[in-house]
Amino acid sequence: MPEDLRRVRERLLSSERVVVLTGAGVSAESGVPIFRGEGGLWRDFRPEDLATPQAFKRDPVLVWEWYDWRRERIASARPNPAHYAIAEIEKRLSGGTARAAKTGKKRARHGGPPGKSFTLITQNVDGLHSLAGSVNILEIHGSIWRVRCLGCGRETVNRDVPIKILPHCACGGVLRPAVVWFGETLPQAVIEAAFGASSGADFMLVAGTSGVVEPAASLALRAKERGAFVAEINTGRTPLSGMADATLHGKAGEILPGLL
Ligand code: OAD
Repeated sequence: MPEDLRRVRERLLSSERVVVLTGAGVSAESGVPIFRGEGGLWRDFRPEDLATPQAFKRDPVLVWEWYDWRRERIASARPNPAHYAIAEIEKRLSGGTARAAKTGKKRARHGGPPGKSFTLITQNVDGLHSLAGSVNILEIHGSIWRVRCLGCGRETVNRDVPIKILPHCACGGVLRPAVVWFGETLPQAVIEAAFGASSGADFMLVAGTSGVVEPAASLALRAKERGAFVAEINTGRTPLSGMADATLHGKAGEILPGLL
């Protein structure tokens, strides 16, 4: 086992408050396109040109075409070894099933490690972490399978692939993806929980994110400032690589199972 991987594994095993922060790179091996870098652009648009309220106001059809393209790919995607390894880390820390992380019940019954906690913070809106069995998840950017009416504000699940563009609510209002766009505020409770977990972490693993979109970058920095050991897994270097205590270069789906 490579020295860096061994070191990260040991830190993970000896830590009590573990946070995993993920981005699009974790789903890349499931066939979900990333946002930046090779293969990241859709029709030459940058995500910053599409994932904004202004872009939707200007051209809702174009924005929905992009989301429809992403939804189609996500619909046929399955979790990869990276998603499963993260779910397994949660399961082991909670001493039984991943659900025990929430209920605390199995921990007592199976005698799992007492006092350990696990939080997964993801920027991904694809739902693949849940499909893989992760439970204690903060989806800070929402879900691509939810839509919100610009008229009545009602939020509902919509799994239509393809979706009828433009989609409309029963009230007649236009529906938009219920994801957090650039320039929008993240749900208060979710962001507080994410900063809370990061502040209290003694180990944070940052996997498959470019680290250029807030608050992901700040969450990692917060963990580091408060004394956590920060490990990064990425196929390339990111602005977070310099401050990370360990950087594991390569594919998340190949490296993460090695931490188990
Ligand atoms: P990005 O597309 O910005 O970055 C993906 C990162 O994953 C890059 O740093 C790649 O080097 C890395 N990567 C690619 N394949 C990988 C693999 N197999 N294993 C490990 N790493 C890999 O995605 P995010 O950082 O998630 O927000 O982007 C953040 C936000 O920007 C997204 O949530 C989205 C986007 O605009 C909104 O839509 C609001």
